[in-house]
Amino acid sequence: MCGIAGYVGYKVATPFVLDCLQKLEYRGYDSAGIAFTQNDSLCRLRVLGGVDNLKRAVSQDVIDSSVMIGHTRWATHGRVSVENAHPQMSNHHDVAVVHNGIIENFDNLKAELQSTGVTFESQTDTEIIPNMIHNNLTGYTDTQILDALQKTTRRLQGSFALCVLVSKVDKIFATARFSPLLFVKSDYGFMVASDLGALPNGEKYKLLDDYFAVISKEGISFFDKDMQPVTLQKLDITNTQQDEGHLGFDSYMAKEVSQGGDAIRNTCKNLIESNALDIACTELFTHTFRIVITACGTALHAGRILGYMLQKECGIECVIDYASEFRYFPPHIDEETVCIFISQSGETADTLSCVEFAKTKQARTLGITNVPTSRLAGMVDYCILSSAGAERAVASTKVLMAQLAIIYMLVQKICKILNKSCEFSFKDILDCANKLDRLKSVSKLDKITRILQHKQSLFVLGRGLDYLTALEGALKIKEVSYIHCEALPLGELKHGSLALFNNDSYCIVLMTQKHLMAKTINNIHEITTRGAHVILITNMDVSVDVDYVIKIDCQDTLSPIPAIKVLQILALKLAKIKKIDVDKPRNLAKSVTVE
Ligand code: AGP
Ligand code: GLU
Repeated sequence: MCGIAGYVGYKVATPFVLDCLQKLEYRGYDSAGIAFTQNDSLCRLRVLGGVDNLKRAVSQDVIDSSVMIGHTRWATHGRVSVENAHPQMSNHHDVAVVHNGIIENFDNLKAELQSTGVTFESQTDTEIIPNMIHNNLTGYTDTQILDALQKTTRRLQGSFALCVLVSKVDKIFATARFSPLLFVKSDYGFMVASDLGALPNGEKYKLLDDYFAVISKEGISFFDKDMQPVTLQKLDITNTQQDEGHLGFDSYMAKEVSQGGDAIRNTCKNLIESNALDIACTELFTHTFRIVITACGTALHAGRILGYMLQKECGIECVIDYASEFRYFPPHIDEETVCIFISQSGETADTLSCVEFAKTKQARTLGITNVPTSRLAGMVDYCILSSAGAERAVASTKVLMAQLAIIYMLVQKICKILNKSCEFSFKDILDCANKLDRLKSVSKLDKITRILQHKQSLFVLGRGLDYLTALEGALKIKEVSYIHCEALPLGELKHGSLALFNNDSYCIVLMTQKHLMAKTINNIHEITTRGAHVILITNMDVSVDVDYVIKIDCQDTLSPIPAIKVLQILALKLAKIKKIDVDKPRNLAKSVTVE
């Protein structure tokens, strides 16, 4: 994770780098720092916490530099401390580095450096890099610095995007492997960042693996793996990831939850206008016997719903697993298999490793992502884009809605190809999105929030499709409210977890599948008989003795859309009442680019 940024130009660099870092903060926010060239030496400023703290620190200093790199950290190696914050520097303070990624062999390289007298002030894996560059430097020309950088990166195993400053040289040197790095030539100067959306308007470029870049006041030069100058293709892409701020809401998450309906409508509209879905479906699903779906977190929950629909509506066998576990329980994959990868960011390391694995097995690959410039989009045979716009809160909300739109449209198309009837129409999906907008004022949730805020633990329960919705609801609640929240299939309760229940226990039960109503009601009795409380989310008019009923209006198959929105609102309200910074939950970052 981490966000890295850099500026070289004719203006004072600070506002550009800080603005960029602020937009990258969703990638990590435990500490932040900058390094810059000033009076022929390298200076650095590092703080604990987010970019606001860095801004405060910067305002105490006069920084008159037009060459600067910056970093906002999500620690992988070394606790959260100022010494571990980036930029990291060489012992001689002549090389400063910001790093996104993990150096897997840093222990050996560190020991090697220590044996030559290099000392380390941090516990990061990154600190070896400026020291190795320093040792490899033979002079200060671009060629000599790039050569030192290449000699260094050739010895690194793992993933990295690096921006490097060398004292007395008013340039940024950059390289990357398995981590994103994007560049812009703008009216204000030349910039580099981990993410397209953090960069101002201008000609944009994406660095390829093991390529190099030099940013000077005159421009940006790119070099290939053999250090030959190359012209990279301009990114011919509308920037769908522009940060639009809070738009009057008190957090990104609140705004993004409210945009769920738009995310569905825009995605459906763009899918209809482009032929990406048609092409992918015809090519991939006309003769498909097996589908493997993998992803992480919320994207995996979307994947589970896709698997359920494909099996139920299309009759295609699906294997679904966490991307982080996939390689330990490898499903049978061959050229007859279609592997589907879902990722909001398109940069999740575990998911990308699975794409590589699937490719070694000659599987056909389909990616679903919200970021057109992402690594996932470039790796898969076919890519379907969600059109939710930039999602900045760590908790994924509106992008899941867009993923669900893709899933329902995909299932519909496949049913058509296979000559099967489908339980829902395109119009049903749009109706569902429109009803979502009217869900905003679920006033009962305020009361429920006041009760649940004091709980140590909660359950979200359901059968069949409702269980899949419960998985996402529980994740959302725990990640932003810090209340332990567990999703379980309702029928599993009596195989163990019921032992936890007493009159202080609260469960959120989902009941949206008419064919499972009788069994669900029986399970609710099992819960309430133990004194535990039930909050029921349902699309049915039933009278069951529970504490609260939240009504949603949808047909059974589409119920994940409104039910998840209710749970997103509840998670948001719980975080708010507990005064948690909902956009930046502790210990998390949005884009998990390390395994
Ligand atoms: C979502 O609320 C989470 N923060 C997280 O589970 C996320 O969905 C997961 O890290 C996958 O990210 P991706 O969709 O960008 O691959
Ligand atoms: N490994 C580096 C650190 O811990 C960078 C972390 C990252 O990119 O997430 O400081």
